[in-house]
Amino acid sequence: MKCSRWLLSAFLVLMTTCWLTLSSRGEDKPTKDTATLADSRYELRKDHDPNGIGKFFLGREIAHVMGFGPMGQGAEWLERAVREKEEKLSLLIKSLDLKPGMVIADIGAGSGVISVLMAEKVLPDGKVIAVDVQQEMLDRLRDNLKKLKISNVEPLKGTQKTTQLKPSSVDLAIMVDVYHELEFPYEMLLDISKSLKSGGRLVFVEYRKEDPEVPIKLVHKMTEEQVKKEAASAEFGLKWSKTIGALPWQHVIVFEKQPATTGE
Ligand SMILES: C[S@@+](CC[C@H](N)C(=O)[O-])C[C@H]1O[C@@H](n2cnc3c(N)ncnc32)[C@H](O)[C@@H]1O
Repeated sequence: MKCSRWLLSAFLVLMTTCWLTLSSRGEDKPTKDTATLADSRYELRKDHDPNGIGKFFLGREIAHVMGFGPMGQGAEWLERAVREKEEKLSLLIKSLDLKPGMVIADIGAGSGVISVLMAEKVLPDGKVIAVDVQQEMLDRLRDNLKKLKISNVEPLKGTQKTTQLKPSSVDLAIMVDVYHELEFPYEMLLDISKSLKSGGRLVFVEYRKEDPEVPIKLVHKMTEEQVKKEAASAEFGLKWSKTIGALPWQHVIVFEKQPATTGE
């Protein structure tokens, strides 16, 4: 009895360690697509941060995706009670200036913590489209919505390169603690910018790399300068609008979609 309990504990510790090391998701490892690097925008380096995937975009290493975890540890971390105290999510939501009727895309929604907070602000006729690539996260999101009786959040399964959002359909797209772990940041930014209406906003919420006091692993943090550099490609049609520095750990970096210019 004692022995089987010991074996069970050892197994759980082993599973958790593997999950923490590999972020538990097959897709975390560079895919064949990544490895062949048909797209020369990215660079692969052998010498890199163990918390990153060894793939670099404009000099920045992409982080491992935070997996759901074999026992749901990833989702539990996102839903932790102390998160409001640490990250002041209520202040984040206030700073977004959400209005009834808006269509919001929460990209990398995870188990839906941020989607749920935004959903009531856009009632009665607005909605949040919660996009994620992990089915376990979307399943947990659905359960959470059911428990909370929220009907204006729509889960949507994306892919590593696309959100599956309709073109020019979104007033505000937001990525909270997501962008640094997108395996194809260029392709995703192109896709997201296409989904924005003219004048729509794209909001990056990233842990401040400029601040060594923010207790998050380096590849999971980003500087404001790097975010601006990566969002600057002309084809995205994004213009930096403001950076909100009111949160304890994260900066909120806001871009606006410019009206399409017609060719000559
Ligand atoms: C650290 S979690 C953040 C979840 C949520 N935004 C929050 O703050 O509670 C990052 C999420 O991004 C998702 N993700 C990673 N790459 C993605 C992609 N290409 N498209 C959509 N979601 C993605 C992951 O599956 C994960 O659920």
